[in-house]
Amino acid sequence: MKTILYVVGARPNFVKAAPVIQALAGDQDIRQVIVHTGQHYDPALSDEVLHDLGFPLPDRFLGVGSGTHAEQTGKTLIAVERALIDDRPDLVVVSGDVNATLAAALAAAKLCIPIAHIESGLRSRDWSMPEEINRVLTDRLCEILFTHSPEARDNLTLEGIEATRIHHVGNTMIDSLRRFEGPARMAEAWRSVGVEPGTFVLVTLHRPSNVDDDERLAAIVSALAELARSVPVVFPIHPRTAARLEASGGDERLAGAGIQCLGPLGYLDFLSLELAAGAVLTDSGGIQEETSALGIACYTLRANTERPVTLTSGTNRLLGDDPTSIAAIRPSPAGPPARIPLWDGHAGERAATVLAAAVSELGTGARLSVPT
Ligand code: UD1
Repeated sequence: MKTILYVVGARPNFVKAAPVIQALAGDQDIRQVIVHTGQHYDPALSDEVLHDLGFPLPDRFLGVGSGTHAEQTGKTLIAVERALIDDRPDLVVVSGDVNATLAAALAAAKLCIPIAHIESGLRSRDWSMPEEINRVLTDRLCEILFTHSPEARDNLTLEGIEATRIHHVGNTMIDSLRRFEGPARMAEAWRSVGVEPGTFVLVTLHRPSNVDDDERLAAIVSALAELARSVPVVFPIHPRTAARLEASGGDERLAGAGIQCLGPLGYLDFLSLELAAGAVLTDSGGIQEETSALGIACYTLRANTERPVTLTSGTNRLLGDDPTSIAAIRPSPAGPPARIPLWDGHAGERAATVLAAAVSELGTGARLSVPT
């Protein structure tokens, strides 16, 4: 029996890892262990999303919580190392680009445990983004790199990563989307918000570059208020953003402009609103992909994206650094879903096949390089 240990910490990790864990659930030769670092701990960001995804209960909850980047990454590194020493996995799986991803990969690499990375090779080339640092460094540490787009594969090749380590399996986030699209549609979350399908703009913003600078946040709030004069705006607000809005009085300005400000939503409720939206304004990475897969217009409030396939083959448009263009967004009917190879709902199964083959090739016995 071989052990695969998954480290998850934040909301997008759950959505990306779930299809792989599900695909390996019936394998009698593999024990799956789940470690939740606790980077996201609010029920709306963690428990509700895990519940909606039918995610197995984590075997360990490390309770790392919030902090500066160094605090969060450092605490996770120490706590994950302890979990790895206790659980002695044959392989560690990380996903995405959050602080938990890099910390877990570093802990495993120092223990000489092979690592697989779901969503490898994305590059914004913007080193002011904490996620870019996490992506590049994580990929350097991994034996198995799962990519979801040709650009991601090419980035890894250009960085000198051997072709045998790169596995182009497709997009596991789209697996989750396809699996839950039906129930999300039936949930009709727009009803409780009081908007009609196809008529509203759905907004999510949480990047430090947009919300941590008071002047920029104020400009965004003004542009959203202007937008709300023409179309209904629904804004489920991330805790990071909520704290900044509250501190600056932006929350009152948004409410005063008639914007529907909500707390963070569970996976199904958010997907339900996304499916019904006439357009989406975001700075999230995953939402650029989901809207492309659904054919819903996406406007990304960033100067760059690590997901260029959503620009060339999907529905995504970069708004750049100027928030004033937000006011011109208008709902439009959903178009055909983007046809991106291997964004077909089966990426998790392909990744699971690679992982099962990899662990069956590993020799038996502990592979840790430090005394326990
Ligand atoms: C993190 C990821 C980001 C991802 C996002 C998805 C990093 C560097 N960033 O950003 O890539 O897109 O998750 O949501 O890993 N907070 C709470 N409750 C929680 C978690 C956070 O209130 O459960 C608040 C705290 O004030 C915290 C702040 O949000 O300091 C930021 O949380 P953090 O996990 O550091 O980063 P995110 O902005 O969530």
